[in-house]
Amino acid sequence: MATPGAERGQWGSRVGFILAAAGSAVGLGNIWRFPYITGQSGGAAFVVIYLVCVALVCLPYLFAELVLGRHTQKNPLGAIRTIRPGSPWVLVGGLCVLTGVFILSYYAVIAGWTFGYIFKNLLFAHLDFGHFIASPWIVIPLFALFLGLTMLVVFGGVEEGIERWSKVLMPLLVLLMIVLIVRSVTLPGAEKGLAFYLKPDFSKVTGEVIVAALGQAFFSLSLGMGAMITYGSYLSRHEDVVVAGSYVALFDTLIALMAGFMIFPAVFATGHDPASGPALVFIVLPEIFQALPLGNLIGALFFLLLSIAALTSTVSLLEVVVAYFVDERRWSRKRSVWVVGALTFLIGLPSALSQGTVAGLSNMDWLFGADGLLGQHDFLSIMDAIWGNLALALGALLISIFVGWVWGVDRAAEELRQGSRVGPGLVRVWQFFIRYVCPVVIFIILLNVFRGYLG
Ligand code: PFF
Repeated sequence: MATPGAERGQWGSRVGFILAAAGSAVGLGNIWRFPYITGQSGGAAFVVIYLVCVALVCLPYLFAELVLGRHTQKNPLGAIRTIRPGSPWVLVGGLCVLTGVFILSYYAVIAGWTFGYIFKNLLFAHLDFGHFIASPWIVIPLFALFLGLTMLVVFGGVEEGIERWSKVLMPLLVLLMIVLIVRSVTLPGAEKGLAFYLKPDFSKVTGEVIVAALGQAFFSLSLGMGAMITYGSYLSRHEDVVVAGSYVALFDTLIALMAGFMIFPAVFATGHDPASGPALVFIVLPEIFQALPLGNLIGALFFLLLSIAALTSTVSLLEVVVAYFVDERRWSRKRSVWVVGALTFLIGLPSALSQGTVAGLSNMDWLFGADGLLGQHDFLSIMDAIWGNLALALGALLISIFVGWVWGVDRAAEELRQGSRVGPGLVRVWQFFIRYVCPVVIFIILLNVFRGYLG
């Protein structure tokens, strides 16, 4: 096993870890994906189910990933291999690494749009969002650039690269969001948006809404593909996993909720449809910026910070895959970053071209029929539904079974208690959640997806 702190690197401080892990969690998932999925899923009732998923499934599961990583000091595949060498469980680690590559492949495309929107008013003022994302000469260079930035940070390694960036930039994002919330909720007509966001109507809840809520909760907290196993592996034994993990979850959830307050009042005040999907943030927010003094500047600053939030997330996605090559294949960090980066670029190209550029990718009904695959029609959204929703839920199901039943909750609890003051009662509650609540709830929800899909 590599000596922690030497070749593998370690977080410089608890705050550094919390901010880096929160940096992984907070990203496009909170500010772009959460509002549009909430909008499509009927509003407040979705938010309530989302919060229940976070508290009852994701939080206990987050501790499991962190302890698994810290105990083994390894990437997801290495962690599982260390505990059960030569068993088929290692495949679950393989699923994690694969999911990392695939999520990164389309996530960096959207992050590229965000990056482009910093300069939108200067360089592409004549283009509306639809034309912007359909222009290959714009989106492909932006995608490549964003991936390149991600690679640059990951080259830098754990403390110097990831931690240093997260520390400064996360607080700045929060500050700007507060400004935008104040603007949004004081727009005339904002009340309707607040009602949509805050007054639950449970008659709108369907199986699909529940699946979307659980998938969104995993996505938002970077769970189900070993990002938190990997980040946990750089965590010192003296740290309190329970406290640090709780901060991360709390912070991530607050940012998602804040994004809703930023978007929905403005959506209704400007007469948009909350269910308009992935374009929501890119169309509605620029309208509020227009109504602000120095709007162009504030808009540019917002998309800059959102790009940075996305960067700390793409960094964690790439880091999972790189950690695998460094630990398991003994590649150098540099070589791993180059190879994985190049591969991800190729896999991401069809996503980049699927928003109106190439017809056969923008609507894949020719392949999947009129209902699409998992209700999605373009290549990018299909990738998100498969990897950003199902693969994460499946990964989380298998990893919680692995921790709860294969590694064993007693050994896991022993690691959890290292450096933590958490009492025996709470530990028992956690063990119950990992063994029963997490796997059973995820299993039932996944079963519903497949039944709905097959039936
Ligand atoms: N949590 C990130 C977000 O909300 O944008 C996305 C993400 C990062 C998902 C890392 C999964 C992951 F491993």
